[in-house]
Amino acid sequence: MGFLGFSFFVLWVLEIVAAQPKTEPREVDAINKIIDHWKLRSKLNLSVDPCIQNATWAPDTANPRIACDCSDTVCHITHLKIYALDVSGEIPQQLFVLTELVDLNLGQNVINDSIPPEIGQLSKMEYLSLGINNLTGLVPAELGNLTKLLSLSFSSNNFQGTLPPQLGNLTSLNQLYIDSSGLSGPIPEELSNLKSLQTLWASDNRFTGKLPKFLGTFTDLKVLRLEGTSLQGPIPSSYGSLTKLEDLRIGDLTADDSSLAFLENLTSLSILSLRNCRIAGPLPEQVSTLPDLEILDLSFNKLTGPIPTSFKNFASLRYLYLGSNNLNGDLTPDVINSKLIALDVSFNSLSGNLLLHRKDLSMNVVGTSINDNNLINGKASSILHCLQGSSKCSTKFPSTSFSVNCGGTKQVSADGIQYDDDSEMLGAASLYSSANSRWSVSSSGVFISNPNGPRFMVQTDSQITNTLDSELYKTARIAPSSLRYYGLGLGSGKYQVELHFAEIQMDDSHSWKGLGRRIFDVYIQGDRVLQDFNIINEAGGSKIVLIKSFEANVTNTVMDIHFYWAGRGTCCIPFQSTFGPLVSAIHVTQVSELNGSSKGKKKHVGRILGITIGCAAGLLIISSIFYLWRTKKETERMLVLTDSPTKG
Ligand SMILES: *[C@@H]1O[C@H](CO)[C@@H](O)[C@H](O)[C@H]1NC(C)=O
Ligand SMILES: *[C@@H]1O[C@H](CO)[C@@H](O)[C@H](O)[C@H]1NC(C)=O
Ligand SMILES: *[C@@H]1O[C@H](CO)[C@@H](O)[C@H](O)[C@H]1NC(C)=O
Ligand SMILES: *[C@@H]1O[C@H](CO)[C@@H](O)[C@H](O)[C@H]1NC(C)=O
Ligand SMILES: *[C@@H]1O[C@H](CO)[C@@H](O)[C@H](O)[C@H]1NC(C)=O
Ligand SMILES: *[C@@H]1O[C@H](CO)[C@@H](O)[C@H](O)[C@H]1NC(C)=O
Ligand SMILES: *[C@@H]1O[C@H](CO)[C@@H](O)[C@H](O)[C@H]1NC(C)=O
Ligand SMILES: *[C@@H]1O[C@H](CO)[C@@H](O)[C@H](O)[C@H]1NC(C)=O
Ligand SMILES: *[C@@H]1O[C@H](CO)[C@@H](O)[C@H](O)[C@H]1NC(C)=O
Repeated sequence: MGFLGFSFFVLWVLEIVAAQPKTEPREVDAINKIIDHWKLRSKLNLSVDPCIQNATWAPDTANPRIACDCSDTVCHITHLKIYALDVSGEIPQQLFVLTELVDLNLGQNVINDSIPPEIGQLSKMEYLSLGINNLTGLVPAELGNLTKLLSLSFSSNNFQGTLPPQLGNLTSLNQLYIDSSGLSGPIPEELSNLKSLQTLWASDNRFTGKLPKFLGTFTDLKVLRLEGTSLQGPIPSSYGSLTKLEDLRIGDLTADDSSLAFLENLTSLSILSLRNCRIAGPLPEQVSTLPDLEILDLSFNKLTGPIPTSFKNFASLRYLYLGSNNLNGDLTPDVINSKLIALDVSFNSLSGNLLLHRKDLSMNVVGTSINDNNLINGKASSILHCLQGSSKCSTKFPSTSFSVNCGGTKQVSADGIQYDDDSEMLGAASLYSSANSRWSVSSSGVFISNPNGPRFMVQTDSQITNTLDSELYKTARIAPSSLRYYGLGLGSGKYQVELHFAEIQMDDSHSWKGLGRRIFDVYIQGDRVLQDFNIINEAGGSKIVLIKSFEANVTNTVMDIHFYWAGRGTCCIPFQSTFGPLVSAIHVTQVSELNGSSKGKKKHVGRILGITIGCAAGLLIISSIFYLWRTKKETERMLVLTDSPTKG
């Protein structure tokens, strides 16, 4: 080989070396130990250098994924993804050898034990996801060392303790996901330094103290979720500066009242949900000028006054929830926007004639005096009689029992009880009445992140255990906000209310899919009988029957059983929008009937307080004064109860 040839050889060797530098041996050793620790060898058999060019495990889409930076004389591992592979066991110490990591995604596994403080050594990290795992212990203060972080997630875990103030050092953060993490206590003032935040999910934690004013200085914020905490109102007026907000969900505030004045300049909003926030005062007209607003949920508040006529002018509004407020006045078609597909005005002092002829609009007007032809077209008209305690709603009445196979078809149980069909598809705001007019069901709310998902019913083919009536539990109703069953035309007296549950949407397997928590409240006749109820916890697993029994009195023909989501539980395990109440069946009987006594059968029919209105459909008693009175009482009671420090 001549000089020239030799030179080419040297160049060729240099090129190979340049193109394929060796990986830092400590890192090669560490990554192999990590792979073995998490039993991933069968998915990723690294028999060669982890940083070889064009490795099959290097592209964005690979999982597990290892990618490297070879721009130096040695290669370093910079990206590690082990996502939704159900790896279990703790975080191994070898991980902290990979100090050049910029992107670590360990989301959706069942990694347990605590996050080791050595996480603070990975100071080049920009993207860190530990979301949906089984991590416990404290959130380490050392996370505050990762000052290059742009995105941090430790949502849906089982941490204890409070948010470390050191997280306030993460001043580059754009995204912070800490919902359902198990944390409690005050939100540290140091977090006011996170001025670059665009997305903050912090719902379903036991945070205490006032809703932080400093959030109003995060002027790049687009998404804020703070539902189901123990935070106190009011909503600070500083939030009026968050003009880039597109999705704002605050809920379940206690203490002081809030107003809606802060919304004036929040013109980017497309989702606004302020459920159960003690919002008082009138609905501002100018809300209707928000050009992109599609979902507006202001239910379970203390709003007063009329629905402004400007509400007809919403440019984009599709879902409007104003239920359980103190709104009054006439609701006329002039107020209803033509793009609306769901309208809930239930439990308000509203009246008026809504002769809309809009089959595309689902409505819930229970507990108002609104005359609604959409309901008259369906079976629901008779309910409006019965919900106000009319004796004329059926010749069968007064009755002493009703039974419903929620979300399913007619079933006769092993002990001979006939559970009625309840398989009608409900809309995002609707009222449905049983064929026998003994009960009705209303649902209000939309699964915001998944509006076309499960249509308020779920179903399984799996066997259900702990019962002779497996079929009864293979279907259930679910709801994103509020689901109510009303027993109608019941004689006065003491009743036993059996609520039948079996979790069929969430899993209890040793997989990330088994990490979901469904948590909701139940009210019977306005009294909260279950708070933070978790079917899987009480039944001992998924697809296991749990029956809860309560006593309740009927004095005015109606039994009101309300399943209510108070913002608690995980949002998205195993699917988007897996949260809120679930119920499989309901069986209600008068107690005196159970032990054969005729004592309770005096059958007082409730007071008829309606006013009659003639209309095309015939005589229709439509006023629900009794209901308005009770709603008010219930709203007050709810506010009182959420005020109490017993939460937690
Ligand atoms: C990994 O690859 C090596 C060489 O390609 C092979 O000998 C070994 O059996 C593989 N191990 C597994 C667990 O697949
Ligand atoms: C890697 O892929 C690129 C483009 O596909 C190709 O040019 C190159 O030769 C490949 N390198 C190796 C070592 O296979
Ligand atoms: C973590 O999980 C592993 C394997 O699943 C188990 O052996 C270990 O006991 C668990 N550790 C803790 C602290 O729960
Ligand atoms: C924080 O990061 C620095 C490097 O930037 C490192 O030297 C130090 O050990 C880290 N501290 C902790 C507590 O991990
Ligand atoms: C991080 O935050 C803590 C507490 O807020 C503070 O005392 C500390 O000086 C900060 N560290 C750095 C490196 O900024
Ligand atoms: C909205 O913006 C105007 C003009 O900048 C300002 O005067 C007003 O105070 C803002 N309103 C709110 C509620 O922040
Ligand atoms: C999570 O950890 C707890 C113990 O802390 C254990 O009981 C539970 O089974 C684990 N969950 C899964 C899905 O492995
Ligand atoms: C039902 O009424 C009885 C008698 O008036 C009363 O003692 C009981 O506390 C009431 N039960 C409920 C659940 O309100
Ligand atoms: C009927 O049974 C219930 C318990 O199931 C009991 O509390 C009640 O006193 C009984 N009533 C009569 C009249 O025996």
